[in-house]
Amino acid sequence: MKISVIGTGYVGLVTGACLAEIGHEVVCTDNDTGKIRTLESGKLPIYELHLDSVVEKARKEGRLSFREDPADAVRASDAIFICVGTPPLPNGDADLSAIDHVARMIATVSRTPKLVIEKSTVPAQTGQQLQKALHVYARESGTKFHVASNPEFLREGTAVQDFLHPDRVVVGVEDEAAEKQLKEIYRPVLEQKFNCPVHVPACPPAPAPVWLVTTINSAELIKHASNSFLALKISYANMVADLAEKLGANVDEVVRAVGLDPRIGPAFLHAGLGFGGFCLPKDLQAFVRLAERHGVNFSLLKETERINLQRIEQFIEKTRRALWVIKGKQIALLGLAFKPNTDDIRFAPSVALIERLLEEGARLRAYDPEAMEKARVAMPQLELSTDAYAAAKGAEALLIVTEWDEFRRLDWKKIRDSMAQPLILDGRNLLSPAEMKSLGFEYHSMGRPD
Ligand SMILES: NC(=O)c1ccc[n+]([C@@H]2O[C@H](COP(=O)([O-])OP(=O)(O)OC[C@H]3O[C@@H](n4cnc5c(N)ncnc54)[C@H](O)[C@@H]3O)[C@@H](O)[C@H]2O)c1
Repeated sequence: MKISVIGTGYVGLVTGACLAEIGHEVVCTDNDTGKIRTLESGKLPIYELHLDSVVEKARKEGRLSFREDPADAVRASDAIFICVGTPPLPNGDADLSAIDHVARMIATVSRTPKLVIEKSTVPAQTGQQLQKALHVYARESGTKFHVASNPEFLREGTAVQDFLHPDRVVVGVEDEAAEKQLKEIYRPVLEQKFNCPVHVPACPPAPAPVWLVTTINSAELIKHASNSFLALKISYANMVADLAEKLGANVDEVVRAVGLDPRIGPAFLHAGLGFGGFCLPKDLQAFVRLAERHGVNFSLLKETERINLQRIEQFIEKTRRALWVIKGKQIALLGLAFKPNTDDIRFAPSVALIERLLEEGARLRAYDPEAMEKARVAMPQLELSTDAYAAAKGAEALLIVTEWDEFRRLDWKKIRDSMAQPLILDGRNLLSPAEMKSLGFEYHSMGRPD
């Protein structure tokens, strides 16, 4: 099928590349022409495991292309995936202006009927507005559009795998034709019939993805309800961590046992600096605002957000207790990305933490395995180091902010010897307290006995 993808950010690029990988002819476009030129030159604007090889192969085989002119991309396709950003407005609502902008563009340039699929995360009832907008904007041409919702559940860091091996594919539709077309698009994924770029030589056995057909409103609600629940789990684990700390218990032991209950599950139950990224914080806010506008006080989620925001302040307090005075101290930060295996620092806890530490007068040196380029642009005032050892050299405290695997394997003896004071504050419970203590570090983590 001929497909166009509008918005070549994280979701758009993964969606476009994976749809091409499973055999469709895909044209991607973006209003950031710099991004399109980067992609045309063979470079990727984001770091994501397997994505480079998937994009390269699909381009070579002629199934994936990038166009600066959105009209070109739209006219070339039968189905259009909208993958533009829906960032938060100052009041927490999702900013849907990019969706509106794209609707106007699609309606104006299309000459034949199209299926328009919202993949961006949007509040319930956006599909209805989109359908209406397309109709209004296409008044002159009279072009007909079907609208569908197809929320995306991929996780940055394992996005290609998640797209190709989803646990469920949710499609919100209002008519059979849209459902049929979407099923055709996803058939290779549903039947797991494609050459998997992730698992070589063969994919491990796994249950087939569940195909879930709902109304558009439900599909939109499913995405917000899922992300908000994940955020809730994290904040819950963090409150348990605070209590464990007061009682002399170990939160890792507690949540491990709690998560082994299949009714609860182990994912998203890790105590630490809290959640960040381009999804959970903004989706949580947008969900609360959506509920409020419809007379539902989702105070449970307001508390989830409050707990999360407090994590940074608590970590600063921990640092202050260990360092006595923060002002003027040289501090090393390990990790900037909002989670490992991505270079994404949008709404990352590191950003808020750095802001607060700088306010306190700390002197910072930071290192991240992948997010240095993005950090350089977003935080030009931040001193970046070439590696973890350079960041730690001469530091009076080392703060672990992102749980990159490579940090586990550092030569901690070497780090201890190079630091002015062997003090670690582990915001992700990445290291073993006993091991760090035996190496001579003063070591503090989250919800575990020091
Ligand atoms: N990042 C994730 O892990 C993830 C996962 C699931 C869902 N989502 C949702 O998917 C959507 C996109 O997220 P993302 O992380 O890819 O964002 P992103 O900011 O990385 O990408 C959005 C892209 O849309 C482009 N864009 C904006 N307005 C446009 C317009 N009018 N015309 C064409 N292009 C336009 C931007 O230039 C950008 O490249 C959001 O709604 C997000 O909540 C994200």
